[in-house]
This record gives sequence, structure tokens and C-alpha cells, in this order.
Amino acid sequence: MDQNPFKNESSINNAFSAKRLGESSLMLNNSFIKSATYEGMYDKGIPNQNLIDHHVTLIKGGVGLTTISYGAVSADARTFEDQMYINADSLKALKILVQEVHAARGKVSIQLTHCGYFSKNKKAKKILAPSKLFNAYGFLSGLGFSHAMQENDLEEVIADFVKTSLALQTIGFDALEIHMGHGYLLSQFLSPLTNKRTDAYGGSMANRSRFPLEVVRRVISALGPEFPVLVKLNLDDGVKGGFSLEDCIYVSKKLESIGCAAIVLSGGFTSKSPFYMMRGNIPLKGMIQNGSSWAEKITMSLFGPLIIKKYAFAPNFFLEQAIKVRQAVSLDLVYLGGVDSKEGILKILTAGFNFIALARPLIHDPEFLNKIKEGRILKSLCNRCNECIVEMDREGVKCVLDAP
Ligand SMILES: Cc1cc2nc3c(=O)[nH]c(=O)nc-3n(C[C@H](O)[C@H](O)[C@H](O)COP(=O)(O)O)c2cc1C
Repeated sequence: MDQNPFKNESSINNAFSAKRLGESSLMLNNSFIKSATYEGMYDKGIPNQNLIDHHVTLIKGGVGLTTISYGAVSADARTFEDQMYINADSLKALKILVQEVHAARGKVSIQLTHCGYFSKNKKAKKILAPSKLFNAYGFLSGLGFSHAMQENDLEEVIADFVKTSLALQTIGFDALEIHMGHGYLLSQFLSPLTNKRTDAYGGSMANRSRFPLEVVRRVISALGPEFPVLVKLNLDDGVKGGFSLEDCIYVSKKLESIGCAAIVLSGGFTSKSPFYMMRGNIPLKGMIQNGSSWAEKITMSLFGPLIIKKYAFAPNFFLEQAIKVRQAVSLDLVYLGGVDSKEGILKILTAGFNFIALARPLIHDPEFLNKIKEGRILKSLCNRCNECIVEMDREGVKCVLDAP
């Protein structure tokens, strides 16, 4: 890290100044992004007032761009039945949210996602995946195996991404984030663990990335070059034999060449290594209580500690891997993972990242960034108990620690 304190002060001041996102026309108030965290603030899949207040509070707390989590691109793209998907009713509520964020002088993006075979949505017509796979997540809900996608399924999913992107652009979203990480459908295509295809969509990295890249290409082409499309991409799956850092560099170069505005680098595969993306404590007790069936609760109680791997938290835990991507591409990169102090922010800026995304420090204290900017604190008091994960499936994501 640079030892010159004045240079450090100027780089942090720059990070709190207005900044263009990639080559797009979008100017953000600063370089800080609220990373998507499933909010659970919906009434039967329709955003409620809590979701609006949550994002307005984050904007007032100092983020330049806030991201709504998991906007499923179709009814079948939901991981469970009551999850939000983009339709006329949710768009009506989202439009109000966008207006409120704009009134607070902020910008707002939404994560566009298809769950693939990570589904316990009994209403889904088909459980889609690159290959026929055992669905450990949905099997207790009677959804044991996925359907290997055919050409018409691929086209249908691309059309869903394009249609929802256009609808979200029309109601005023400032940016969109396509979810290509964390073990959802596009990431299932990228990962050799879940993509067993022998056609043009399986095998080599070029083949495994063909469908995810085509989704991004078609969305960008529909929205136009001025509109920022971000992609959330794994640095690696955090599982042996999965998508690797080398694969990530390959896909990042391709994303750069097709006009992606920025890549949000993360990691982990929700059905295999869920805590790789966040690290820290596993809040098993609350997760068991939240289980949607008795079978699920019992399975979690018996096998939870065996099947859910724990990863120790470290500040900026993805930085070493992310720097390798930084060295390989020149498009804007968003660093995410374990940002919790002014010192940590400076390290990321010094390493050449354009934007910085945060999740838990902002759940703990939505004013965290204002406080860092004004020198009121140097470090977050979030202790990575991860009880916020339990809360998101109760009455909405929140921190269980005392208010700062
Ligand atoms: C409660 C909670 C919910 C999350 N939900 C999502 C999500 O819906 N989509 C996503 O891409 N990442 C999700 N994540 C991962 C975060 O976006 C982020 O990658 C992770 O928390 C690491 O960042 P942090 O150290 O700043 O918290 C979630 C994390 C938490 C703690």
C-alpha cells in the first residue's frame, strides 16, 4: 500500500467524488455501490414500503448506486414461489422505488437472475439447468432433478432476460446487474461441476461461456451502449473442480469485448459453498428454524454442520484473486468482499479498482460510508455473525447487533 498519507487522502476523496460507470452515460455520486443482499421485503413477491425505505436509507447513507437483489426474469426463474419476479405488478412497485431513490438524489440498479436448478419453486413448469442434475436444494420439496436445457429453452431464457431488461429500463432503472455468479443458472453453465454438456454449450471454457455471454450480449444490444449493464461474476466457485480464476479472467476479457460496463467480482456457489462469498459465522440455529418443511429442518439439524463449510473472515478477502483480474482487463471492476474499514478501502483503490461494493457493513450501519467520509469512524462494527441471513427470511434483512 502507498505510504504517502496525502496521496491516500486524495484517493479517498476521489472515491467520494462523482464518477462515470464504465463507458455508459451514468454518473454516480461516488464510487460506492450497495451490493445486492436479498431483502425479503415483499408481500407475496411484490416490493413493499420497507424495500423502498431500505434503499432510500442506503442512498442517504452515502452509496452512489444501490442494488435491489434477485429480480427473477420469469416466474420459473424464482428459487421459491413467493420470490419477486419481474411482471406488471412488481414493475408498478419498483417504479415507485426508483422514483423515491431518484428523489433522494441516488441511482438504482437491480440484479437480474435465473435460479436454474437452485429451485424449490413447486410452481415452476420445468427446473432448468445446463444438464440433468440432482437438486439437493429442492429435493425435499419434490423437485429432485433438473431438465437439461434444449435450444428452445435457451432462446426462451434469453428472451426473458431481454424482455425484463427493457421493462426495467423503461420504468427508470439507472443500471442492471446480470447475475452470472453464485451458482445460479448462468453460473451453472460456466461451472464444469454443473455443466456436463457435450454440445456447443459444454466442455471448453469457450463453450461453457457461450450461453451466459449471449445473454449479456443480447441484453446490451437491446438496451443500447449508453445504458450500463454490470455482470456479477465469480472469481471462482470455492469448490474443487469448479469455475476457476483462470476461467474468470477468460470470461472477464469476453465481457470487456462485448461492452459490459463493469464486472462485480465475487465467488461461491450457493448450493455447494454458500459461505465462501461472505465468510464468518454460520447462523445454523436460525437457518434451521427458517427451514420451510420439517424434513428440511431435520436434515439441516443433522447434516448442516457437515454440509455447510465454514470460511474464516478476513478483511478484503477476495483482493488477492481480484487483483489478478485487474491485471488482465481494463474495463471497470467493482471490488466486493470484506470491505470494512478506511484502510481496506484505500488498499482496494491503490490496487486500481474503479468501484467498491459493500453489503454487511451497510446492513449493520447504513451511515457507514458517510461516517468514513467525514472521518467519524475508521472501521465497521459488523462482526460477521451473519444473523442478517436469518433475518432476511423472517421480516426482512436487518442487523441484530445494537444500533451503532
Ligand atoms: C443477508 C445477505 C444476503 C445476500 N443476498 C445476496 C443476493 O441476493 N445476491 C447476491 O449476489 N449476493 C448476496 N449476498 C452476498 C453479498 O452481496 C456480498 O457478496 C457478501 O456479503 C460479501 O460482501 P460483504 O463482506 O461486504 O458483506 C448476500 C449477503 C448477505 C449477508
